[in-house]
Amino acid sequence: MRTHTTLVINPKGGSGKSTVTANLASYFAANDVLTAIMDYDPQGSSLNWLRQRPQHAVRIHGANAAPQRGGRLRSVEMHVPQDTQQLIIDAPAGASGLLIQEMLGRAHCIVIPVAASAIDIHATANFIRDLLLGGRIRERNIRLAVVANRVRKSMPGYEPLERFLNSLNLPMLTRLVDSDVYLKAEETGLGIFEMEFAATAAERQQFLPIAEWVAARPQLIVEGRVQAPSLPVRSILPAAAVASRPGLRIITKGFQPQ
Ligand SMILES: Nc1ncnc2c1ncn2[C@@H]1O[C@H](COP(=O)(O)OP(=O)(O)OP(=O)(O)O)[C@@H](O)[C@H]1O
Ligand SMILES: [Mg+2]
Repeated sequence: MRTHTTLVINPKGGSGKSTVTANLASYFAANDVLTAIMDYDPQGSSLNWLRQRPQHAVRIHGANAAPQRGGRLRSVEMHVPQDTQQLIIDAPAGASGLLIQEMLGRAHCIVIPVAASAIDIHATANFIRDLLLGGRIRERNIRLAVVANRVRKSMPGYEPLERFLNSLNLPMLTRLVDSDVYLKAEETGLGIFEMEFAATAAERQQFLPIAEWVAARPQLIVEGRVQAPSLPVRSILPAAAVASRPGLRIITKGFQPQ
């Protein structure tokens, strides 16, 4: 089976890339899906998190894609087992140029966490526009969605964020509240789906749409004919037309990977 790859990216530091990466990976691992994380960040937050994982936790493979020092071979460190079903890429802050192209070249879908602050929204909006203008997303039919992160319980809606997403016609998958549970997960090497249910129920519910969206694969319908094998439908998202290719619509009507 082909590895499905999700790129978690936002050039803005601290937007929640490593948090989303770790919890997404732990969701799949906890569901017995062979999972790997590829950490492009020299800070190595995701690889550090993997090192904290207790012995009883389901194994998640860690691959180091950060530039190597001291003669270590990047291609060796980047290796991901061939039977990996879900690969999650944790991008570094400030990524640009060739590094972005390399990560995009691997991705089937992109998740962009954005913190609910005017500064973060502004930076993220520019990044998404550049991504879309680059053409690679459309050429390769890469799905793209945004996640609002660190949303305050006292301020569940944030108008500038809603306006920004509406202007780009992008799905906002969910809002993750600012919660100590994520800090606890970071410290223990576990994900929210592997922690005590009662203590993580709200966070799980908020996070689940991300996992379901990633697990869903788009059905391509070309002139009314379904091009992908039909499997049981789990979640239904709105259809989006591909402007440059008349007659081709991407229906993001998801189904579970095999
Ligand atoms: N929803 C949340 N609630 C509480 N804390 C959070 C939440 N999301 C992220 N954090 C915390 O904020 C800090 C930054 O998050 P994280 O490391 O995921 O961001 P990042 O985008 O990967 O940062 P960098 O750009 O430095 O790689 C971490 O300590 C993380 O635990
Ligand atoms: Mg990070």
